[in-house]
Amino acid sequence: MNDFLSEAASADLTRTPAWQALGAHHTHVRAQHLRELFAQDPQRGERLTAEAAGWYLDYSKQRVTDETLRLLLALAEQCGLPARIAAMFRGDAINTTEHRAALHTALRAPEGTQILVDGIDVVPEVHAVLRRMAAFADAVRSGAWRGHSGKRIRNIVNIGIGGSDLGPVMAYEALRHYSQRDLCCRFVSNVDATALAEATRDLDAAETLFIVCSKTFTTLETLTNAHAARAWCVAQLGDEAAVARHFVAVSTNAEGVAKFGIAPKNMFEFWDWVGGRYSMDSAIGLSLMVAIGPEQFRDMLAGFHAMDQHFQSAPLAQNLPVLIGLLAVWNTNFLGAQTQAVLPYAQYLSRFPAYLQQLTMESNGKHMTLDGARVGYATSPIVWGEPGTNGQHSFYQLLHQGTPIVPCDFIGFCQTLNPLAPDASGSDSQHNLLMANCFAQTEALAFGRTLQQVLAGGADPAVAPHRSFEGNRPSSTLLAERLTPHSLGALVALYEHSVFTQGVVWNIDSFDQWGVELGKVLAGTTAKELAALDAPQLAHDSSTNALMQRYRKLRKE
Ligand code: F6P
Repeated sequence: MNDFLSEAASADLTRTPAWQALGAHHTHVRAQHLRELFAQDPQRGERLTAEAAGWYLDYSKQRVTDETLRLLLALAEQCGLPARIAAMFRGDAINTTEHRAALHTALRAPEGTQILVDGIDVVPEVHAVLRRMAAFADAVRSGAWRGHSGKRIRNIVNIGIGGSDLGPVMAYEALRHYSQRDLCCRFVSNVDATALAEATRDLDAAETLFIVCSKTFTTLETLTNAHAARAWCVAQLGDEAAVARHFVAVSTNAEGVAKFGIAPKNMFEFWDWVGGRYSMDSAIGLSLMVAIGPEQFRDMLAGFHAMDQHFQSAPLAQNLPVLIGLLAVWNTNFLGAQTQAVLPYAQYLSRFPAYLQQLTMESNGKHMTLDGARVGYATSPIVWGEPGTNGQHSFYQLLHQGTPIVPCDFIGFCQTLNPLAPDASGSDSQHNLLMANCFAQTEALAFGRTLQQVLAGGADPAVAPHRSFEGNRPSSTLLAERLTPHSLGALVALYEHSVFTQGVVWNIDSFDQWGVELGKVLAGTTAKELAALDAPQLAHDSSTNALMQRYRKLRKE
């Protein structure tokens, strides 16, 4: 049996005492409405809250009672969550299928902390790379780092995909307010040539720096785009030697980077104990550091670390990532929710749902337990979302009156970074409007509007049923004072640890991603067949064969 599993966790989870107790409890509370829960306890909205690292969590609009929470916390204890948290921070090889530690927390550990991997303290290495990144970022920002022809760098193009793209682009968009505005950052991920072509079409290669990010440095999309970018750069500048001033790499694979033609001094390393989707605070965040500067980047790391410390030390009942993780288990496994919406009321967080999709679904989209049995319960919900208020005018109809239950996480800030319409009291009326919508949505989802209320309002009785809202739709709200590098770091760490909490309960490996392999292997064979000039016999299924034949016929030779 795996060392990290308590005996109870390794047994079929659904037959364990804590799970059974939750199941029995659910049959008692399933019919309870949030209207009743709030009416019974006037303090509910203040009581079911928790706070850490600048974030206030209100989970009172989740469909839980004190007993639900007690039972969920008992489930966490039964699954050995405190021991698993300690094991993660200690650097144990908790990624069991890849025999590795999952030590993203070491990336933001302050200097002087000791974290051993195979007997070696990794914290000094982390800080050595951070210093190299800072020196490089400062040089680009100040203009000391020049392009091949002596021109100043004005454009940064990050080439990477998955964790080597989603984190950097999300954080760049989120912290754009803090960025040096005479530097333009773009992100190329898709192997569709359109991505690179559109990202570079108006750029001068002499002023452009490519940061090639790939943990493995073998990823098809990234290497294809990096080679194409290199050809574009060399063609514009007319000299192979230009690569040295216009390309840097971030990777764990020094050999692969050297083979591409990037010198070791232009490579920023990270380590195999950092998962791709947990890597935005490693050197993978180099483009972000160039944009916002080393000081702001360190502030972001401090935010991550503050949430790490909270996760490590706060009692489970007041622990934000634990609460969010356990609520996801309740919603998924007992209320039967299949999806989770993430709704930031902040335009700067427009890419946050996309970032969370990889973090959550690549981590917990698993069907095998740590000890190799098929799970007998649902695991990761499908995560999706859009910033508010945009979503209100597209899919919120379904959130309010559709048939599925969609638990929602609302995220907002008390202060705007762009006060366009300050009012007499000093607050910003446009921001007030934004947040009024956020709060109103949580209220409408929870309490709805009964048929009686609609009729009392004078509605046509024939239409009244269409205009009534059942309510009882669960949501949490996360509120911080202001979007800063620190609050962003804490928010990301909050979700990282909530994903881990869910994975511990579900007894799955949240740090591997074997499920992406099959598609990659099949695409390799298919690509060779599409490229072959002599049209080899196709031996796929009839659908794939027909699609490929049609493509071959219609493509431009
Ligand atoms: O294919 C999935 C994946 O391995 C992700 O886990 C990872 O973030 C992404 O590809 C990119 O990988 P790399 O950084 O090695 O290019």
